[in-house]
Amino acid sequence: MDRTHVVLPAEDIRRQKDFIDRLASIYCRREHPPMAMVDTYGCQQNVADSQRLMGMLRDMGCRFTGDPLAADLIVVNTCAIRENAEKKVFGVVGQLVHVKEKNPEAIICLCGCMAQQEVVAERIRRSYRHVDLIFGPQALWRFPELLYGVYTRRERIFSIADEHGSIAEGLPVVRESGVKAWVSIMYGCNNFCSYCIVPYVRGRERSREPAAILAEVRELAEAGCREITLLGQNVNSYGKDLDVPMDFADLLREIDQIPGDYLLRFMTSHPKDAGEKLFCAMAECSHAARQLHLPVQSGSSRVLKAMNRGYTREQYLEKVRMARTAMPDIVLTSDIIIGFPGETEAEAMETISLVEEVRYDALFTFIYSPRPGTPAAKLPDPVSRGEKQVWFDRLLDAQNRISAELHRVYVGKTLRVLVDGESGDPSWPLSSRTHGGRLVHLKGDTSLIGQYADAHITGSNTWALFGEAAGGPAPIYK
Ligand code: 5AD
Ligand code: SF4
Repeated sequence: MDRTHVVLPAEDIRRQKDFIDRLASIYCRREHPPMAMVDTYGCQQNVADSQRLMGMLRDMGCRFTGDPLAADLIVVNTCAIRENAEKKVFGVVGQLVHVKEKNPEAIICLCGCMAQQEVVAERIRRSYRHVDLIFGPQALWRFPELLYGVYTRRERIFSIADEHGSIAEGLPVVRESGVKAWVSIMYGCNNFCSYCIVPYVRGRERSREPAAILAEVRELAEAGCREITLLGQNVNSYGKDLDVPMDFADLLREIDQIPGDYLLRFMTSHPKDAGEKLFCAMAECSHAARQLHLPVQSGSSRVLKAMNRGYTREQYLEKVRMARTAMPDIVLTSDIIIGFPGETEAEAMETISLVEEVRYDALFTFIYSPRPGTPAAKLPDPVSRGEKQVWFDRLLDAQNRISAELHRVYVGKTLRVLVDGESGDPSWPLSSRTHGGRLVHLKGDTSLIGQYADAHITGSNTWALFGEAAGGPAPIYK
């Protein structure tokens, strides 16, 4: 696909701004400003997408609420990665019928990855008649136009055409805090791991122009943002579709030149494309956090092949060795799927042995969930859910023990942390993160929020560290 067809012309975005203005003039005739609720499920990309939707809603004149019964407009941004996520959303959307009963003028929208699936759209069309607008991730930038259509045409609108996907620059945004921000560097995925629905719902890989990313990061750094997370389904594919020769490691180095007191994180990094060049760039970039999320999915080379992951167990372990050679203090995390169709007990135990060998700081663990339309969903899956659960629990026991052991090593040390908010626990009122991304519950004053602090670590458990803020904030990531 030609790049000029991927990056949307400024004119297309201006047209959407016209629709925002038209909606604003509809809303300003009302007695009260409309209340909007954006309910987000799933990954950080969805969180970032919701921040754009909120930016458009804010510019239409909306205020925000977390109470569906107080809302005039509800947007449910959905996730399709596992069946559980979908079930939850159907439950939530079912309940919204009461909103419509109380306020028949309320508008209900469903977007995100679930919305992009034909079967889901059909079910909404037939059985959830209170949903007015449904649109997939590729149509997000056209939300103002679609919403305007709902008001003026007084009919339900479905915009879920299977699109390659484009890049929309300059959409408004509401950031959740001034401390942390998400910056998408690319969209879509071309990897087609055999269990995964993402490539079918988020379109083909497309990279934002480096200049656009650099401008966004510069703006955030100048505004005092302390933590910037670069997002992509596979950030290591960054640049493959650009006209200029640039990959993710090059991009990281360019971003690192931007002055400011911020940390750079990124996710997700596919092991098949991660290597020496990236690890050296991370080690040499002073803003880059010592944290690497490197999803392995399985420790069995046979299962990895069936998953279409593009690496063997040994090749993965070699990448981990490379990363640790470049950055001995790197905090490593991973995603793992237990119970892929045809996986045997011995193969699941190979995954646990890999976990024991790598000793991750933390894991995100999942039991395989068949996704209709993916190749894995057609494979025979003879192992019972109960048996998969037993393997899964063994994996959790192993990881919980390892996390607790690794966390214990921090006790007695003083670490630089970024205080990012309140914890809700009066004994440890602040929540903060280490350079490597470990959670620290902190005693200290709320005036530290948004600042770096030195934390003296006094305790730990499997999931977090506990500490006391010592001394005042002092910037180090220059
Ligand atoms: N079943 C279970 N887990 C899945 N993931 C992706 N697809 C599935 C599925 N069908 C997990 C992978 C991925 C993470 C985001 O979700 O581990 O890395
Ligand atoms: Fe899904 Fe694989 Fe793409 Fe990740 S890399 S989004 S697991 S297809």
